Amino acid sequence: MPQKNKPLVSIIMGSQSDYKTMKYAENVFKSLKIKYETKIVSAHRTPKRLFEYALGAEKKKISVIIAGAGGSAHLPGMVAAISHIPVIGVPIESKKLKGLDSLLSIVQMPKGIPVGSVAIGKDGAINAALYAASIMALSDKKIKFKLKQLRSKQTKSVKIKPK
Ligand code: RP5
Repeated sequence: MPQKNKPLVSIIMGSQSDYKTMKYAENVFKSLKIKYETKIVSAHRTPKRLFEYALGAEKKKISVIIAGAGGSAHLPGMVAAISHIPVIGVPIESKKLKGLDSLLSIVQMPKGIPVGSVAIGKDGAINAALYAASIMALSDKKIKFKLKQLRSKQTKSVKIKPK
C-alpha cells in the first residue's frame, strides 16, 4: 500500500529545458490528485545521480516513472535497466530533428529492458501521465474514479455541431 504524502509516481527529465514539456504531465497528476515528484536526472551529465535516483525510486515504492529526454534519449532506458519499475519515455522535441531522434531512441529499446513510449512533446507528456494513472488505477479505486470523471468531462466537451 502506498504511504500517505509519499509520491506515487515520479517525473524525471534530462534537462531543465525539458520542463516546458514535462510540466504537462505534472498538470495531469494535479488534476487527478496523484502525488508526484519531479527531478532533473541526466544520464550522461549526472550518471551518479541517475544510479542513486533509480535505486532510490525502488526503495520509495514509486509505481511508475515517466522519463522525458531529447536527442540521443537514453535516460528512460537507463532508468528501466537499473530499476524494476515500469518506465514510460516521453520523446522531447529536439531542435535539429524535431524529436524524431528522441522518439526512435526511446521506442527502439532492444529486447529485455522494455520502455513504453508515447508521442513527441506535449501530447506525449499528457498521455504518459494518463497512462501512468491507468496503471495505478488497477490497484487504486480513487484514481480509477478520477480517470473516469476526466474522460466523461472530455466526452461532454465535444460538441455535435461544429458551430
Ligand atoms: C537531453 O538533451 C535532454 O533531455 C534535452 O532534451 C537535450 C538538450 O539538453 P539542453 O542542451 O537543453 O540542456 O539530455
